[in-house]
Amino acid sequence: MTVNGTGHGTPRGAEDATEHDAEALRTRALTALSEARDRTALLTSCVDEDELTAQHSPLMSPLVWDLAHIGNQEEQWLLRTVGGQEALRPEIDSVYDAFEHPRSERPTLPLLAPAEARTYAADVRGRVLDVLERTPLRGGPLLDAAFAFGMVAQHEQQHDETMLITHQLRRGPAALTAPDPDAFPGPEGVLPPEVLVEAGPFTMGTSDEPWALDNERPAHRRLVPAFFLDTTPVTCGAYLRFVEGGGYHDPALWEPEGWAQIRKHDIEAPLFWRKDAGQWLRRRFGVVEPVPEDEPVLHVSWYEADAYARWAGRRLPTEEEWEKAARHDPAADRSRRYPWGDDEPTAARANLGQRHLRPAPAGSYPEGESAYGVRQLLGDVWEWTSSDFLPYPGFAVFPYREYSEVFFGDAHKVLRGGSFAVGTVAARGTFRNWDLPVRRQIFSGFRTARDA
Ligand code: AVJ
Ligand code: FE
Repeated sequence: MTVNGTGHGTPRGAEDATEHDAEALRTRALTALSEARDRTALLTSCVDEDELTAQHSPLMSPLVWDLAHIGNQEEQWLLRTVGGQEALRPEIDSVYDAFEHPRSERPTLPLLAPAEARTYAADVRGRVLDVLERTPLRGGPLLDAAFAFGMVAQHEQQHDETMLITHQLRRGPAALTAPDPDAFPGPEGVLPPEVLVEAGPFTMGTSDEPWALDNERPAHRRLVPAFFLDTTPVTCGAYLRFVEGGGYHDPALWEPEGWAQIRKHDIEAPLFWRKDAGQWLRRRFGVVEPVPEDEPVLHVSWYEADAYARWAGRRLPTEEEWEKAARHDPAADRSRRYPWGDDEPTAARANLGQRHLRPAPAGSYPEGESAYGVRQLLGDVWEWTSSDFLPYPGFAVFPYREYSEVFFGDAHKVLRGGSFAVGTVAARGTFRNWDLPVRRQIFSGFRTARDA
């Protein structure tokens, strides 16, 4: 213990500053947890009990499974691990363990009924708020910067996106509504179709973003050759020309596994599209509407994105190309937290957080563009990249193997950026998502690139 000049221990100013930081962190954690819970409540209160327990697609869990799983993960990390408390209901852990039970078999498990699941999640949350109040937010990687609380808030927001996918797959009349994004005049003639990202190194990943998850770490330099990248995501209108031009019937455009999938399932267009009396329609959260030509295309698999890019004489960007275009500031030679800079997302910068139930027209959000002038990198649609989901050099599991490590390898492709359904707490330039290349129920789109 050092003694300062006055002999009264730690200088007052420093102590106040530490207390102030801790209070600011508690507020940030509380806000993130509350926003996630408001969204969970909306997604699980807008349909009746039968619909909460039903399985709307074998690809998804019943909504009531997600609800109790959210509570169970929160209990495990924040009450047991951080708070040192006894398990509230140890007998349900295995039911809500995603690795013990694939989604298709979850309806057959002894699930908590909707009312029980709600009470359980609310009970956990009440106790978590006490833990947050009492726990010093320093003294280890789970506590520093309130990491565990941020991780749990992100986990809940990720399951909120999963539940929104379940809502999109559900048949029947609309249960959710939201205002449309503002109209946008359209990128043609206003924006250049592509931008050049010059050759050179940039910093990929992060070592200092407080709530970044293990797979985003550590920061490291990468040399990226020059390339061109689309200014906006590929639109439904552009994708329609591929559909109408016979793209789904030319095997030369497809990876063999993708060709096998579209032939086996008679896939002719993105999921939720159908042609009726010569007009292309799509179903979106219970509403059937004409396919909007100016909107980024949604619900395509990696194979569809890859085939489109080949048809267009282009290719998907690699993950590192995507991140350089999104984060690198060539003037300052540094990587930003977000495409527009280091300040948090706002409604003027990105379409995030389920404020809208669709992507905004291509070219929207000029205030959100990157240093290279690329638009809509965060929000609107997840963007397939050509890259497999692999660890960065120096990767270390934290805090559990089942978040990232067990998925590394060549089975999963990386998606970047985040859709309109991503919570702001889980949206940043370094965030990495991944899925199987056949998946198309997710809010996935893409943009294309070419070598310079
Ligand atoms: C990162 C979206 C692929 O939903 O499978 C949720 C997130 N991990 N619970 C998923 C996750 C554990 C994960 N993704
Ligand atoms: Fe989970």
